[in-house]
Amino acid sequence: MNTIIEPFRIKSVEPIYFSSRKERSGILKQAHYNPFLIKARDVIIDLLTDSGTSAMSSEQWAGMMRGDESYAGSDSFFRFEKIVNEVTGMPFIIPTHQGRASERILFSIMGGKGKYVLSNTLFDTTRANVEFSGAEGVDLRCAEGNDAETVAPFKGNMDAAALQAFIAEQGAEHISLVVLTVTNNSGGGQPVSMANIKAVHAICQAHGIPLFIDACRFAENAYFIKLREPGYESKSILQISREMFSHADGCTMSAKKDAFANIGGFLAMRDAQLAEKCRNLLVITEGFPTYGGLAGRDLEAIAIGLREVMDEDYLRYRIRSIQYIGEKLDAFGIPYVKPTGGHAVYLDAGRFMDHIPVHQYPGQALCNALYLEGGIRGVEIGSVMFGKYAADGSLLSPPMELVRLAIPRRVYTQSHIDYVAEVILAVYQKRQGFRGYKLTYEPPMLRHFTARFELVP
Ligand code: F0G
Repeated sequence: MNTIIEPFRIKSVEPIYFSSRKERSGILKQAHYNPFLIKARDVIIDLLTDSGTSAMSSEQWAGMMRGDESYAGSDSFFRFEKIVNEVTGMPFIIPTHQGRASERILFSIMGGKGKYVLSNTLFDTTRANVEFSGAEGVDLRCAEGNDAETVAPFKGNMDAAALQAFIAEQGAEHISLVVLTVTNNSGGGQPVSMANIKAVHAICQAHGIPLFIDACRFAENAYFIKLREPGYESKSILQISREMFSHADGCTMSAKKDAFANIGGFLAMRDAQLAEKCRNLLVITEGFPTYGGLAGRDLEAIAIGLREVMDEDYLRYRIRSIQYIGEKLDAFGIPYVKPTGGHAVYLDAGRFMDHIPVHQYPGQALCNALYLEGGIRGVEIGSVMFGKYAADGSLLSPPMELVRLAIPRRVYTQSHIDYVAEVILAVYQKRQGFRGYKLTYEPPMLRHFTARFELVP
């Protein structure tokens, strides 16, 4: 039997509204050609994000009823704390309402003017929180990670030699933190190897720099290690995860990804003094340290989700379903980041829309074309999300212009995915007919969320 089937059956369904192409043309215009501004009801297949969009299991829903809503010391907190400790091995565990709240607390303490935060690749909210603290974020991704076509097992790795060179040049005292994002979301959802985590840790230790893991997709990363790194074939996902975290001083987590929760996150660490500082900030904006901005029922859903995500039948299906899209694209030579990553397919918009120059945002053009053609919503990960301006006002672009189609966990079936592949192919066949965009409005930070565009003539 070759077909890897969904390891679940469906108990509750949500209807999809089928808009027409003509309707979508008007909707796009009204949304200023920014898919973030489209109403979810007007989307047929929503691949904007895998964050907070998971289908919860019947166990998680049952857990919601068990949620203890006590303000302080709720049972749900202790169940949550136990599993987070089991997975990460970290003694100090602080719940937050989502990943970026953890980031804001951490970088408020560890960031600041004149400091650097180094990473394989910082996610957009992570970078924004680093920069908001006054620090500078620097991505030191391995070379093969910057090329969409290169097939390598761990394209999410950090360039350890570049890390060493950066420390030698700038001085360890100016580097407040190294963050390893697993899997590397903005870098194509590519995994980071255990060897790389160890190497980065050794360098950090030698210079007294703390290493944190951005752990949103830790289980997907652990599964790739199991599949691809010698010596891990027969280890469990829990064992591999524990080993990953054993090399870190702390982690930030968005439970909206690999914990199948619709909201939530946490900070975990080994340093008692740092934990105390974090808790002092937590109470101002998030809440008391045993709930941190979450209801008891949310803590319960996360605790259960963290166990479910380490199930290998689930992970086999998860990684296979993403690979399946890649195989469909290969059949027509459609360019994407190879090999497929953990939670999404990243179309190589620079090549896909090679008639549109970078300053006219080929990724935005591809995103909008997919919506117009088939009601599919993805997200641009390129010059709209990460573009900066040089002193002369010209656009400074990131290494790749991508469109991410993120697959919500346990939500869509194989026929939904077949449809997505058909729409991508239809757009590819008439790609020359799509035009680029210019920005008409942009906010100072995280501009992709609310930017507005116009079609260039
Ligand atoms: N780190 C990574 C690697 C992420 O992918 C995200 C969120 C965050 C941190 C922030 O977590 O949303 O709970 O505050 N990523 C979502 C995405 C939004 O679409 O990739 P959050």
